Amino acid sequence: ASGSVLAGRRVLVTAGGTREPLDPVRYLGNRSSGKQGVALARAARAAGAEVTLIGANLQVEPPAGVEHVAVETSEQLHDAVLAARGDADLVIMAAAVADFRPRSLAAHKIKKSEDGTDPVIELTRTPDILAEISAHRARPGQVIVGFAAETGDATHTPLEFARAKLARKGCDALVLNEVTDGAVFGQDSTAVHVVTPDGQVAEASGTKDDVAVFLVGTFARIAASTVGR
Ligand code: C5P
Repeated sequence: ASGSVLAGRRVLVTAGGTREPLDPVRYLGNRSSGKQGVALARAARAAGAEVTLIGANLQVEPPAGVEHVAVETSEQLHDAVLAARGDADLVIMAAAVADFRPRSLAAHKIKKSEDGTDPVIELTRTPDILAEISAHRARPGQVIVGFAAETGDATHTPLEFARAKLARKGCDALVLNEVTDGAVFGQDSTAVHVVTPDGQVAEASGTKDDVAVFLVGTFARIAASTVGR
């Protein structure tokens, strides 16, 4: 996305991975570094957009010239997205949001039991932010993009899972990362497919910065085609 394809546009990007507290010292987390989301924020800024980056436990620096809101948990990310999405033309949900969190937060550090029994952690679903903001758009024509890391199984390819997820979430595009060999998290390079409701598939690979530039260009075209929708 060279130059100014997003000039005058407002872009909201989520990046990183949420941490769900279990007790005062422990959490359930994931391996997302935030590199891809931060690269997307940088590329959107370079394309002329006014960018807000909601970063969950980022392991990389947020780019210069971007408003950064730091969060830890999926609940904080949810609240930050709802607070910031109002005037966004494009929402890019690149963060790895926990699908489950511990049902309760222990007030004290969980101790090893005297009799050697194993503790059991009960989990509960977190709200699906992407599905929620797609179902109830903050403004007409707002373009919303989701991300999914998928492996295939015996009967479905990763792309088939991605198409099903796009439909289920109700967003305008879904970026698929194939994680069959586990090699995406924390890496500098990546390979993606972009699926859209019209059935088109675009693909790109390279550094996360190169892929971000490609993705921002793709999202800008989608945004341009949905003006006044
Ligand atoms: O369902 P899954 O977690 O694979 O979906 C991934 C996409 O949904 C990502 O764009 C992620 O940011 C978003 N998501 C969300 N709220 C959740 C879980 C995922 O917005 N609770």
